[in-house]
Amino acid sequence: MKVIEADGLSFKYRRAERPSLQDVSFSMRKGEMVGVIGPSGSGKSTLCLTLNGIIPNSIKGDFKGTVIVRNPLTGEEFSTLETPVSKLSTVVGLVLQNPESQLFNMTVEEEVAFGPESLGLPRDEVLERVRWALGVTGLSGLEDEFPPNLSGGQQQRLAIAAILAMKPSILVLDEPTSQLDPRGKREVLNLVSALRREHGMTVVLVEHNTDYLFRTADRIVVMNRGSVFMEGTPREIAERADDLMKIGVKLPASVEISAELKKRGLAEDIALTPDELPALTGFPSR
Ligand SMILES: Nc1ncnc2c1ncn2[C@@H]1O[C@H](COP(=O)(O)OP(=O)(O)O)[C@@H](O)[C@H]1O
Ligand SMILES: [Mg+2]
Repeated sequence: MKVIEADGLSFKYRRAERPSLQDVSFSMRKGEMVGVIGPSGSGKSTLCLTLNGIIPNSIKGDFKGTVIVRNPLTGEEFSTLETPVSKLSTVVGLVLQNPESQLFNMTVEEEVAFGPESLGLPRDEVLERVRWALGVTGLSGLEDEFPPNLSGGQQQRLAIAAILAMKPSILVLDEPTSQLDPRGKREVLNLVSALRREHGMTVVLVEHNTDYLFRTADRIVVMNRGSVFMEGTPREIAERADDLMKIGVKLPASVEISAELKKRGLAEDIALTPDELPALTGFPSR
C-alpha cells in the first residue's frame, strides 16, 4: 500500500527567483524506509515540508502537483491541499534539524502532552500516549526535567517523542542528527532503527550519514537542484558512485574505495559496507 504519493510537485517560495522543487514525484510504501540525500540547497527540506502539508498550507508560494497521504490503519486518505496541517500531523509527523526550535514547554511531560492535548483527547489517553512515547524514545524518568537541560541527543529524542504522541504512521526526519554530537547522533539513529523494526513505522530520513543510510534504507532518493537526480536501492545508487561524487554527495568510504578499485579492475563489485570490502578485493580482513 502506498502511504505517500506525491506527484508532479513544483514549488517556488515567495520572493525566491527559482523554484525549489521542479516536477518531483515521490512515493512511499507502508513500512518502507527511504533515505533522502543530495547537496545543500537541492530541495530536501522543501520536499519534507510538502509531505505533511506545511507547504502549501502554512508556507505559501507557487505550488503545483498533489500529495496524497494514507493512514494505513484506517485506509483514510488525505490530499495535503485540502486537509489542515493539524489533521495531517496525525498521519505524517515531521521532525526538524534543530531540537531546540521544536521544544517550547517547561517540562518533558508537557512537551509530549502538548500535541495530544491539542487534539482534544481525554486526559487518560493523553497520559497513556506520553508514557508510551517517552518509553519508546528511552526518556522515561525524565518527565519533570526542563527540556533545555537535556543533552542534544535527549532533546532530539524528546522532539521525536512529541511527534510520536500524535501517533502518526509516517515519520519524516529532516537531518535530525546534524546538530548533535557523535553520541547524540547514535542515540537518534538507533531510535529510528527501533521505530521501524519494533513499531513498523514508515520513515523518510534526510541524513548526511550515508554509512547509516546505505546499511538500513530500503531505497534512496538523491535530490539535485530541486529534482530527483537518482532513485534506487542502496546498491543501485552505489553502482553510480561516480555521478554522485560529481554532484558533491559524500558516499560511505567503502563505496568510494570499491568504486575506485572497480574502475581499475581491482574489485569486481561495490562494497556497501566495510565488511564487504575484503571479500571483493581479496585483501585480507583485519
Ligand atoms: N523560506 C525560503 N524562502 C526562499 N527560498 C528558500 C526558502 N527555503 C529554502 N529556500 C531555497 O530553496 C532551495 C532548496 O532549499 P532546501 O529545501 O532547504 O534544500 P536542502 O534541504 O536540500 O538544503 C535553496 O535554493 C534555498 O535557498
Ligand atoms: Mg535541508
